[in-house]
Amino acid sequence: MTTATDMQKEAAGFSTQELLQRVEALKKEMNAVILAHYYTLPEIQQAADIVGDSLALARAAEQNSADVIVFAGVYFMAETAKILNPGKLVLMPDAGAGCPLADSCPEEEFRAFREAHPDAIAITYVNSTAAIKKLSDIICTSSNAVHIVRQIPPEQQIIFGPDRNLGAWVKKQTGRDMLLWQGFCYVHEAYSELYMIQSKAMHPGAELIAHPECREEVLRHASFVGSTSALLDYTEKSPSQSFIVATEPGILYEMEKRSPGKTFIPAPKDPANPRSVCKQMKQNTLEKLYLCMVNRAPEITVDEQLREGALKSIRRMLEMSA
Ligand code: 13P
Ligand code: SF4
Repeated sequence: MTTATDMQKEAAGFSTQELLQRVEALKKEMNAVILAHYYTLPEIQQAADIVGDSLALARAAEQNSADVIVFAGVYFMAETAKILNPGKLVLMPDAGAGCPLADSCPEEEFRAFREAHPDAIAITYVNSTAAIKKLSDIICTSSNAVHIVRQIPPEQQIIFGPDRNLGAWVKKQTGRDMLLWQGFCYVHEAYSELYMIQSKAMHPGAELIAHPECREEVLRHASFVGSTSALLDYTEKSPSQSFIVATEPGILYEMEKRSPGKTFIPAPKDPANPRSVCKQMKQNTLEKLYLCMVNRAPEITVDEQLREGALKSIRRMLEMSA
């Protein structure tokens, strides 16, 4: 009998090309769709049918005819796909790839935060657990947060979480005074103003572009701020030939693919905080992708009551960002 360990050993012997071919064959056999985030490894993006930002991937999870969704991203992304597709098998190459930002917002503490502000509605970043989504009124992503907040009547108080940097940026864009949960993403928090100034001085022709999960002291030096998809579109359309990119460097693969003649410089890390790579996204290896399809595991499941509760706030996002 072939055991999981035997298969693991066998997969370890395959070349990248062999693994890509096997994944392709399994995809057809299983009627599976592979969704991957821009921060995953290049070979994962190569194997994927759709590579996108959180909003595009949530939409893709909802609008497809596959029987199986294989999600190469972090846990909350696959969980969102399952919430939207309860009848489908949702797999992840490594179910241990969590998002520390999502984990920085525990259910009981968030409930207490809401109870302390009973008149406020909660607009919550998709980087959150299903339990937090259930406690929220509307979900948002970095590409629709501003658009959603602008639709809320001005007298309505808003709680925004869990990312304080995205929250501060949305406050600035909309002029709304929101109550912010104090979470952050360790990858984007690692960029500092000093190193951005130095990098701009070193590359005088390059435009600094940044994800809104970066701190305000970084964002104020950027000529463009946006979600991963918005950053990609910007680099394609801008006449500039080089860019300093202040977001997870996995996105450089797609940037270089879309704009072959342009130069993309990963924004420098602060040596005092050298953590600007998302190690959870990189847990999605090609070998694990292949094995999760062979084994049809790990499977993502969500308790039905929790799913129904979380679905409401996700649906509101999809309606409000249509
Ligand atoms: P995007 O929705 O911009 O792709 O962001 C997802 C994310 O996790 C950023 O850290
Ligand atoms: Fe979470 Fe940050 Fe990784 Fe995005 S980059 S998945 S917010 S830890």
